[in-house]
Amino acid sequence: MCGIVAYVGPRLAYPILIKGLHRLEYRGYDSAGICLLNGELKVWKCKGKVSELEKYIEGEKLEGTIGMAHTRWATHGEPNQINAHPHYSQSKHLSIIHNGIIENYLVLRKELQQRGFTFTSDTDTEVLIHLIEDIQQNENVAVEEAVRIALTQVIGAYAIVVLSQDNPDKIIAARKGSPMVIGIGEDEFFVASDATPIIEYTNNVVFMNDEEIAIIERHQELKMRTVRNQERTPYIQKLEMSLTAIEKGGFPHFMLKEIFEQPRSILDSMRGRLHLDQDTVTLGGIRDYLPKILNAERIIITACGTSWHAGLVGEYIIEDLARIPVEVEYSSEFRYRNPVISEKDVIIAISQSGETADTLAAIELAKSKGATVLGICNVVGSSIARATHAGVYTHAGPEIGVASTKAFTAQVVVLTLMGLLLAEKKGTLPESYLHKLRLELGIIPSKVEKILQRADKIKDIATIYKDSTNALYLGRGYNFPVALEGALKLKEISYIHAEGYPAAEMKHGPIALIDKNMPVVFIAPKRGIYEKVITNIEEVRARKGNIIAIITEGDESVRKLADHCIEIPDTEEMLIPLLATIPLQLLSYYVAVMRGCNVDQPRNLAKSVTVE
Ligand code: AGP
Ligand code: GLU
Repeated sequence: MCGIVAYVGPRLAYPILIKGLHRLEYRGYDSAGICLLNGELKVWKCKGKVSELEKYIEGEKLEGTIGMAHTRWATHGEPNQINAHPHYSQSKHLSIIHNGIIENYLVLRKELQQRGFTFTSDTDTEVLIHLIEDIQQNENVAVEEAVRIALTQVIGAYAIVVLSQDNPDKIIAARKGSPMVIGIGEDEFFVASDATPIIEYTNNVVFMNDEEIAIIERHQELKMRTVRNQERTPYIQKLEMSLTAIEKGGFPHFMLKEIFEQPRSILDSMRGRLHLDQDTVTLGGIRDYLPKILNAERIIITACGTSWHAGLVGEYIIEDLARIPVEVEYSSEFRYRNPVISEKDVIIAISQSGETADTLAAIELAKSKGATVLGICNVVGSSIARATHAGVYTHAGPEIGVASTKAFTAQVVVLTLMGLLLAEKKGTLPESYLHKLRLELGIIPSKVEKILQRADKIKDIATIYKDSTNALYLGRGYNFPVALEGALKLKEISYIHAEGYPAAEMKHGPIALIDKNMPVVFIAPKRGIYEKVITNIEEVRARKGNIIAIITEGDESVRKLADHCIEIPDTEEMLIPLLATIPLQLLSYYVAVMRGCNVDQPRNLAKSVTVE
């Protein structure tokens, strides 16, 4: 949820830490803080964004070649200066930053209070640093050992960094359930929640595993141990990520950049997988599991938010193409409702970040019941990518905007490729039809490009509806998940209340909402049950709702009924979500910008939700 960055080496730590925090700010951002070790541990922190921390800290002596920094997404205690991280230990000889939740913090807090510790914040985090100090003082052990012993007493999830005044060259980092990456440079080390603050310095990285503690010391080899005190050899990987991929490249916001990247990101998701010359699809990541999937009695897709919407599109695609029953579950419900799962089931977990706590828990549950678990993730080396038996990366490139855009279309592409591959192997459909689908999928990027060229028209529509307080999104079949996704995008970045519904369900309730002030977005392309959608449009029109329709190029019937139309090129029905989603992303973006909202960092949200 939050962002962690730490540095030790020959350079001044502050510029590296602050730049790192800016890169990580998309993860969580209600307060920020920094700690530099230069003789003593100095902490500066404040409520608000990283830029506010920079202002707050101006004029201070920011020296030291070792330090750590944090952006918080509060779970325990309101977002204010006192609760912001880093937190000191009682003696101020130790300091900590933490991502996650210490579930048994109340018990530990009481015990520590009885032993004379006083607490300044309401956070669960502060408990941990006092506990570490308590152990260090009583057992007279090195700081890394005190951290290790403390972690044996902790229930919950964490990624932590600890600095100790008595160890001016040493960083202790540990993780369980929250991500942590270590970058190894020339006589210097970086630690961060993801690789984005690291890649401009080095691409040699170690992804920490759960329950591992790293002892990172200048002039020394990186050492790792487990919480159970076993030695671990760090596995150093070369990371392929370019700096331009994580910068705005001339766009005012990451979200707009990422929307406009979709012709390329969609192509990248198909590259080396869709072979038009050989009329086939390959997915190397799940090759070994193909027999298992082909014989599956059922596929269960589990995900959250936008990834869950992609899963719904996947349900329609896989059932249509491969004739395997598919269920789609919110990870947060699935994990707690004692679902019936057997070895014959295949679970597909979808996650952009690969760190979503609920989805990770759903995976563990499915694995414990003997099911085969596959992942569809965007972040290489992420926890979900590693927790699953096999999987397919989406290759959309880093997605920084909190509102997911290019990751969604990439997920849908991967699910389409899976459907095509399964259909090919199962022989469920005539080869001529699969051939047509493959060809059509291959030209989707150019059709997306065409829609993006019409962005100004969508901006005009946004101008008209920017002050709305509600909106309804309606679609049927493949376009029902598109309606859900359109509504989610609008509410999360513009704070306008929006609902997505299957268009025919409208008459069972939401129709009561329709009056002259209600914008209703219809996804109404000329495919599938188009005529039925026209009936639904008529029903809204009769009640004076304002109709914005996504239509197929040249369609005159809906044009006559709608107040505004946005054209998308024609394509096969199952590929329409890849096109129809684009104008809805743009509509939300422009509305949010016109309302003065921070589209890249909407209030209360975080990019990767590592708490349940
Ligand atoms: C998307 O716009 C949202 N911010 C959110 O719903 C997101 O899709 C969800 O939290 C799942 O994240 P994941 O794909 O990283 O697992
Ligand atoms: N649970 C901690 C807190 O509320 C850490 C939150 C975070 O991950 O940012 O301070």
